Amino acid sequence: MRLAIIGAGKMGCWFAKLFRDEGHSVVLASRNHEKLVKVGRRLNVETSSFLGAIKGADRILICVSIDAFEEVVKIISSVIQKKQIVMDICSIKEYPVDILHKYLPDNLILGTHPVFGPGSTGLKNKTFILTPTNQAEKKFALEFKKWLENRLVRVFILAPEKHDTLMSVVLGLPHFIGLVACDVLLELEEYPETKNVAGTTFRMLFTLAEVAALEEPELFNSLQLNLPDTLNIETQFVNKANEWLGLIKKKDSNAIINKMNKIKFKLKEISDNIEHSYKVMYKMLESSEN
Ligand SMILES: NC(=O)c1ccc[n+]([C@@H]2O[C@H](COP(=O)([O-])OP(=O)(O)OC[C@H]3O[C@@H](n4cnc5c(N)ncnc54)[C@H](OP(=O)(O)O)[C@@H]3O)[C@@H](O)[C@H]2O)c1
Repeated sequence: MRLAIIGAGKMGCWFAKLFRDEGHSVVLASRNHEKLVKVGRRLNVETSSFLGAIKGADRILICVSIDAFEEVVKIISSVIQKKQIVMDICSIKEYPVDILHKYLPDNLILGTHPVFGPGSTGLKNKTFILTPTNQAEKKFALEFKKWLENRLVRVFILAPEKHDTLMSVVLGLPHFIGLVACDVLLELEEYPETKNVAGTTFRMLFTLAEVAALEEPELFNSLQLNLPDTLNIETQFVNKANEWLGLIKKKDSNAIINKMNKIKFKLKEISDNIEHSYKVMYKMLESSEN
């Protein structure tokens, strides 16, 4: 199979290497010729312009930034043929899937989101989300799911809108909390010293803070502005923070302890329900295997 990877950034290179190692014919494309030649040499894969890479490819994987997505799809749509399958890896899904349908109405397309970064080694134990929107896309998604699962990937099939709602919580909220925490920590003179005396809780906090701060600013910006529920959830976070701060300012011990006990109770109830659902699911699986 011949694969055209459109976009030779961090993730484009990651996928070029993956498919090269899987034994496929890979052609990597980018707008920046000079950079592309170097990357191609480093990865030992063929390189080309966007339009050159499309010619003769069976599948096209679009790996450009979310902000450039429509511009790039518009350019390549002029040479894409009906039989070519087009996939993308954007971290949001409703918008790119709409764009692919708009410019490539006659092609089989599939929105995907690898929920891992370019620092990952291999596919094993990673999470992938596929977002088909019609029967043909669902059929292809199931084939790709099987291919991924054979490589021990956890695969979820979701509607693009559902994906984006979940990612508002899974990516948007931790990036936001981490970045705000980092902003606070860096203002503290004591920050460098705090690491020496850190316990588990603080280690978790500064790991979140530092990971969020090391994220690419463009990706952080795109996720915060494009995920549908980030504004609501983060506003709720700020309101809740103010609510807690109010109780602490008032030194209202009863209210603080009651509120915390309520949270513990709610958390336990949810965890128990999840555990119960897993038990039921495993029982069903066991009885279907016997
Ligand atoms: N990084 C992650 O953790 C991660 C995880 C999952 C999915 N994703 C998704 O993967 C995609 C790429 O992310 P990345 O981390 O690989 O970003 P990246 O390293 O910044 O690469 C972005 C790529 O897009 C190209 N590009 C940007 N603007 C362009 C334009 N106007 N015209 C043509 N090409 C343009 C860049 O070309 P130049 O090199 O010439 O600038 C580069 O090849 C994004 O959609 C992101 O949501 C990222």
